[in-house]
Amino acid sequence: MTARHGPTEPGLLIVSYSYTGHTRRVARALQQLTGGEWREIYPWQPYPMAFPALLRQVKAEIHAGRRPSLLPGAPSPQGYTAVCVGSPNWCGAIAPPMASWLSQHDWAGKKILPFYSHCGGVPCSMRQEVQRLCPGAQVTEALGVLDTAGPDALAAKLAVWLAAAGE
Ligand SMILES: Cc1cc2nc3c(=O)[nH]c(=O)nc-3n(C[C@H](O)[C@H](O)[C@H](O)COP(=O)(O)O)c2cc1C
Repeated sequence: MTARHGPTEPGLLIVSYSYTGHTRRVARALQQLTGGEWREIYPWQPYPMAFPALLRQVKAEIHAGRRPSLLPGAPSPQGYTAVCVGSPNWCGAIAPPMASWLSQHDWAGKKILPFYSHCGGVPCSMRQEVQRLCPGAQVTEALGVLDTAGPDALAAKLAVWLAAAGE
């Protein structure tokens, strides 16, 4: 892992979506480890608070391949060569707001490092999903982090993952 602060080296961009805070915790640890630029994205319409309604909506969106609108101010990957992209695992899939964000940009020639937070339930093929949403990108192995992971285990996992991805 290398913090890239040189005048000619583009920095690392970290972009995350989090509903209950676990993916945010991973993104923050990643930011602390790398010195990268961390930005969050938000759906225009907040998701329901009640779990049954949330689950119903998420399942429907994933099933239909719906891409919810995002709040203005979402970052652009332009100017970065490597982007870490984090989402919760929702029903074995990337969260629709992150699918929206990824599908809005040109990824040719960029490296994407996907990570996701999960509870140990239905597994998620985050790498394949990101590759499908981002043609032309080099997508590295996805890192799955259990939502109960402690800070030390998390930092160790992140360091190994970044090194394997050449960052
Ligand atoms: C609607 C919904 C669906 C979920 N589906 C899965 C799943 O399929 N597999 C899994 O391991 N965890 C699943 N989870 C658990 C979340 O992935 C996990 O708690 C994650 O850490 C949440 O991240 P966040 O706090 O950043 O939103 C689901 C959670 C929600 C709310």
